[in-house]
Amino acid sequence: MKLPRTYYNYTSYLGTITALIAWITIIFFVIQINVFGVENVYFDLFAYMVTPGFLLLGLILIPFGMWRKKRQIKRGTQTPDDKLLVIDLKDKKTRNALFIFSVVTVFFVLFTVIGSYKGFHYTESVEFCGTLCHDVMEPEYVAYQHSPHAKVKCAECHVGEGVDFYVKSKMSGLRQVYKNFLGTFNRPIETPIANLRPARETCEKCHWPEKFYTNKIRNEKYYLADSANTEWNVIMKMRIGADHSALGNTGGIHWHINKDVEITYQSDEKRKTIPWVKYLNKKTGKETIFLESDTSIHPTVKEVANSEKRTFDCMDCHNRPSHRYLAPSNYVNSLFAGNQISKSVPYLKAAAMEGLNDVYSTKDSARMGIDKQITDYYKKSFPDLFTKYQKEIKSAITAIQTEFSYNTFPEMKVRYTAYPMNIGHLEFNGCFRCHDDKHKSADGKVISKDCNLCHTIIGQGITDSIKYTTINGTLEFQHPVDIGEEWKTTNCSECHLEPF
Ligand code: HEC
Ligand code: HEC
Ligand code: HEC
Ligand code: HEC
Ligand code: HEC
Ligand code: HEC
Repeated sequence: MKLPRTYYNYTSYLGTITALIAWITIIFFVIQINVFGVENVYFDLFAYMVTPGFLLLGLILIPFGMWRKKRQIKRGTQTPDDKLLVIDLKDKKTRNALFIFSVVTVFFVLFTVIGSYKGFHYTESVEFCGTLCHDVMEPEYVAYQHSPHAKVKCAECHVGEGVDFYVKSKMSGLRQVYKNFLGTFNRPIETPIANLRPARETCEKCHWPEKFYTNKIRNEKYYLADSANTEWNVIMKMRIGADHSALGNTGGIHWHINKDVEITYQSDEKRKTIPWVKYLNKKTGKETIFLESDTSIHPTVKEVANSEKRTFDCMDCHNRPSHRYLAPSNYVNSLFAGNQISKSVPYLKAAAMEGLNDVYSTKDSARMGIDKQITDYYKKSFPDLFTKYQKEIKSAITAIQTEFSYNTFPEMKVRYTAYPMNIGHLEFNGCFRCHDDKHKSADGKVISKDCNLCHTIIGQGITDSIKYTTINGTLEFQHPVDIGEEWKTTNCSECHLEPF
């Protein structure tokens, strides 16, 4: 079989070999994946993204080599045939070349179509987003797997529908991949607050504001750092909707997303301090502006006018719907409540907090540190307890290390303090960023911090002597350890963010 004279050059040979190898590799991976059902991120990556790139490169090199050869012929050993490209079907060489070219092109196009379709789906998959750069995405991926959204694809919140956001997110993704190779990404990685698609186009595809959630009872258990690991209960009615279900979102927490309500606010970049809030009643058109009364924080009228404002949506409260890193006290409480560690081992809560207060720099040092600190705590202060409960303490250490590994990622500097969570007010100010009795309107109204506005306490206290009221009644909050009236004046987060 003869090919055009210009084909015989090294560049075109290289192109042919590259394309051939790429071709065989693709077929190999595609068979592995589709016939033998191999599930491997790297197989997918090679089959649908890397190797097709080489195939394309090879196919470009072939005509490039021919073009160069042709130019050389033109300069040096020029012959009349080479002056212009003649496609003469009577010529056997041309026929062969054309045949090969057509077959290859047809297959190439077919593969590109299937490949890019698969590639598109692949880049939208949870494995792609969550595991490709393991170390970098590990915190988000692990937290995601333990979240209520473990079966919702990353892309459904981070990309959404439509080509524009697909392209936008992939371009920003490419930058991340590049940074990943260079190792120049931030630890912890930044929250994409500004680039995140509005809730309207993501969350509201599955949950929508008109969908009414009624009130909900929560029963939380806390364990104090004393000898008995005293079990303290708080039973609250969360007032998610109005008290009467027929009233839907016209009251309660989800009042914020009622279609007649629009709240806009101005804040710093991280949305930590919110000095200016506007509530627009869309039905009556009435506007109420609340200004932080502390004049050292609040902006001037001009600053407000010139600043960017944000319209309140789901993510202003639910900002960690799938990447929630719990505070140590929080997950140790859950271990007790779930009987995974034993309440009957004296001082176990105190010992656990001892082991978890340190900030570790690697997973291994954390694992060893937790073990050592808890063991030392008992050996030094309560050696007889240590002998008596050695087995329970050992298994508690393993459970605590496991829970730690779901919530703390030393290499990425991710622990509960890394990303503020805006729902609630215990560790971070969250709702209290506005609801602090200090944001005042011109007619003297404040955004309320009333403890019964968002939830009511219907039971609290130590197990076996819990004080209850009726479901529609309320108890005044009693702080689990005596701090006097301080919880009324000091924000919870001032004591609770660190070191608990
Ligand atoms: C239910 C929606 C949802 C899903 C599903 C989801 N995310 Fe997120 N993700 C968010 C939101 C909202 C933020 C912004 C958090 C904030 O503003 O504090 C975020 C932030 C992030 C960040 C920035 C760092 C951080 O922790 O703030 C990364 C990285 C990330 N997500 C990766 C992923 C990966 C990987 C997956 C899939 C394994 C995923 N996300 C699935 C909603 C989601
Ligand atoms: C693809 C659909 C989908 C998207 C998009 C989605 N969610 Fe969800 N969400 C779910 C499912 C499914 C559940 C679990 C429902 C259940 O347990 O009954 C859930 C549960 C929740 C819960 C209840 C959590 C709990 O503790 O039980 C909240 C709050 C929530 N989603 C908020 C959000 C927010 C905020 C966003 C946008 C950032 C979002 N969701 C995006 C499907 C989705
Ligand atoms: C003002 C803050 C705020 C806004 C805005 C908000 N939520 Fe909520 N939402 C809450 C709180 C607080 C709860 C109760 C959480 C709990 O039980 O601890 C809740 C509960 C939920 C639940 C779970 C209901 C249940 O029965 O467990 C879902 C789902 C939910 N919200 C989705 C959304 C979606 C979607 C949006 C946006 C359209 C939204 N929320 C806007 C604060 C808010
Ligand atoms: C950006 C500021 C801001 C944040 C943050 C905020 N709110 Fe509000 N909230 C308001 C404003 C403004 C009102 C209306 C005050 C008024 O007119 O009395 C309001 C009213 C409420 C109401 C009363 C609704 C009714 O029945 O009339 C509840 C309940 C509520 N918020 C819950 C929450 C919860 C829970 C959070 C945190 C998850 C939260 N808010 C965070 C600004 C905010
Ligand atoms: C603007 C709404 C709002 C106000 C005002 C408010 N809370 Fe809360 N509170 C919440 C929300 C939302 C949660 C649930 C957080 C979560 O889901 O993790 C919560 C949780 C709690 C919890 C359980 C702590 C936890 O996270 O385990 C206690 C206790 C509590 N609140 C006490 C109070 C007290 C005392 C006051 C009055 C000083 C108060 N709250 C005022 C919204 C509010
Ligand atoms: C002056 C500091 C201070 C303030 C303010 C404060 N707390 Fe506490 N809180 C503590 C201390 C100290 C403990 C005891 C920790 C222990 O024994 O493990 C505690 C324990 C708790 C516990 C049990 C904790 C656990 O994880 O086992 C809850 C719940 C709690 N506080 C809620 C609140 C709420 C809600 C507020 C705000 C309304 C608040 N606290 C304000 C200091 C404070």
